[in-house]
Amino acid sequence: SQRSDDPAVQTSSNSQQRSSSTHSSVKKKGVKDFELGKTLGEGSYSTVVAARDRTTGREYAIKILDKKHIIKEKKVKYVNIEKNTLNKMNHPGIVRLYFTFQDHNSLCILLYHAKNGELLTFIKKLGSFDLNCTRYYTSQILAAIEYMHDQGVIHRDLKPENILLDEKMHIKVTDFGTAKILGKNVAGETDDRANSFVGTAEYVSPELLKEKAACKSSDFWALGCILYQLIAGRPPFKGGNEYMTFQKIVHLDYTFPEGFPPVAKDLVKKLLVLNPAERLGAGGKEGVKQLKSHPFFDGVRWDTLWQQPAPRLL
Ligand code: ADE
Repeated sequence: SQRSDDPAVQTSSNSQQRSSSTHSSVKKKGVKDFELGKTLGEGSYSTVVAARDRTTGREYAIKILDKKHIIKEKKVKYVNIEKNTLNKMNHPGIVRLYFTFQDHNSLCILLYHAKNGELLTFIKKLGSFDLNCTRYYTSQILAAIEYMHDQGVIHRDLKPENILLDEKMHIKVTDFGTAKILGKNVAGETDDRANSFVGTAEYVSPELLKEKAACKSSDFWALGCILYQLIAGRPPFKGGNEYMTFQKIVHLDYTFPEGFPPVAKDLVKKLLVLNPAERLGAGGKEGVKQLKSHPFFDGVRWDTLWQQPAPRLL
């Protein structure tokens, strides 16, 4: 049942206000104003398609969501989380949201088109990254995490599929549909669904499995899993099925392959810590400062991270 206060129904008018409040004659764009290209990604509730603005020639990625399906499956809240979190982000390491619109059947989110696709594709293609490339990408992912946490957003589903690469081979974090917005909880409002969300099995934190609660530190757990995967070529916890993967996670059951660089090993061990409060990076600003000071990041120029050319992947 679609109510008039369903936020999804307001998506268009909200952004219309944003985009045309000072120019009431500006026509709101619709899906017909774009020439659609190839499919970039498919999820259970959405399809991301390459798109070119017929007027300006600019290229985008349009995330198209099926309204009926979303309302039926009670995912309206998640669509709004994705829109609202992305809308307030302005960072080179995070996919930009340009605007949203809708027609009778679909909600559309116009996003930055990251031309080089998913980080996962490069891990698969190359097998693994060397220490220098791993340091570069881990630094960019960490800088993006630091920014979203500063904005009061926990991503909760960081993984190589959700880390896109632009034409400069810099990262763009995407998929905020399962993010959690901190500090906006009205007293008495329960947030069970948000707290019971479980991300992708291999990158899920032990606290999410045990206490059904994610915190900023949960993103640092995922960072540890991704760092491990960049070097080893596979995530640290992978069972024959989801349940076996979860068992491995809650028992911290993983080993390092031979030749794993000691400095990276030391950082992974400090990120893959069961107690989220003891994880490197936990503890607010000071925790992040400690994490960025780990010897693994020695030589990283955090201030010019997004101006530096990406190292060539070998
Ligand atoms: N796949 C999913 N979203 C994408 C985007 N914004 N750019 C490129 N590929 C994508």
